[in-house]
Amino acid sequence: MANVTVIGAQWGDEGKGKIIDWLSNRADMVVRFQGGNNAGHTIVVGDKTYKLSLLPSGVVQGKRSIIGNGVVVDVWSLLDEIERVGGAGLKVTPDILVLAENAELVLPLHRELDALREEAASQKLGTTKRGIGPAYEDKVGRRAIRAIDLKDIAGLPAKIERLLAHHNVLRKGFGAAEADAGALLESLKEIAPKIVPFIGSSWRELDAARRAGKRVLFEGAQAVLLDIDHGTYPFVTSSNTVAGQAAAGAGISPRQIGTVLGIVKSYTTRVGEGPFPTELKDATGEKLGERGREFGTVTGRKRRCGWFASVLVRQTIIAGGVDGITLTKLDVLDGFPEIKLCVGYELDGKMLDYLPADANEQARLKPIYETMEGWSDSTHGARSWAQLPANAIKYVRRVEELIGAPVALLSTSPDRDDTIMVIDPFVDR
Ligand code: IMP
Repeated sequence: MANVTVIGAQWGDEGKGKIIDWLSNRADMVVRFQGGNNAGHTIVVGDKTYKLSLLPSGVVQGKRSIIGNGVVVDVWSLLDEIERVGGAGLKVTPDILVLAENAELVLPLHRELDALREEAASQKLGTTKRGIGPAYEDKVGRRAIRAIDLKDIAGLPAKIERLLAHHNVLRKGFGAAEADAGALLESLKEIAPKIVPFIGSSWRELDAARRAGKRVLFEGAQAVLLDIDHGTYPFVTSSNTVAGQAAAGAGISPRQIGTVLGIVKSYTTRVGEGPFPTELKDATGEKLGERGREFGTVTGRKRRCGWFASVLVRQTIIAGGVDGITLTKLDVLDGFPEIKLCVGYELDGKMLDYLPADANEQARLKPIYETMEGWSDSTHGARSWAQLPANAIKYVRRVEELIGAPVALLSTSPDRDDTIMVIDPFVDR
């Protein structure tokens, strides 16, 4: 069996949605394994655009889709999303969607705490305010409400009491009103019958898929530089986004994650706060943002833009466990007379070929650039190497050399068909 795991290899928003949709066409099952509705994937199919957040991209093609145990699930948001895509003609029923019974829930009090903290902090993290961090805290704090708990309404009051004993202390500290246990119980009771039909076992589904020789696509959210361990801490999300998390977050052997594709944008963007050494706060940065339509799918925030940092991607490939990359949005670089690649950093007069772990050092890094000649012809919509200008091919080859991984796929527009396949990730290596 050949499975594929897809992760973001920069700060997110690399264009994973399109590639996952393209790959899910060739898969039998699609699985989310971390994150929550902080993620946003845009999928364009013909004249339809789907904006997915919690739903695995497999639903677009009617493929069996699993929200794994590693995901934190805002069930209200999930139902809204199911209704929204239903309006666009996609039927998401328990026949295709399974929600892992052991996934933790994101509750309204998590969203509130996320927002209270962001508003009070002198150094903001720039979170999506979806309650993701507080929900993961409750998971590891062993006081979370899980999907399976919606099947046992009688057991909920005791679980809510344990949870609120913790939250009400925090809320008091922010001068906020205590959380209302009765109201939370009522809203969980109300939503339970709508969610329960989707609840199932991720590990058992995947075991059956393995025995049946099915191809599974594991769909990452966010990206390695936002990983709780390997990212630009503390300006990160609260889950592991590296490929290994696909195993823990779905209930499979690490050997089953298959080929790992890292999605890499031809330049760099970031939403939220935190260090970004190649950020361009000038007309070039503006131009990248405009041409790449760099606005957050979830929050609508303007993304910060800068040149490609091979030094970062080399690192995320190693730490994230990436076998090959998909390079996206090459067409955004069309028409730039010259293009810069960040090949290292200078820190207090010393050269570094990696991102140091210390946040203060990260903030002081000065990029070291290599400059390449640009191309004037369009790469937009190219479907073969032959259609690419020579300098665009040179850029791609130089990227491969610098990051130490091959380009398996090249994406040249948001359209599903504008993809050049160099290596088939579903074929066993
Ligand atoms: P949180 O995940 O909402 O806690 O936000 C923490 C950091 O991760 C912030 O910098 C967010 O902007 C960033 N982040 C979370 N989800 C995404 C995503 O899907 N794409 C890009 N950045 C994200």
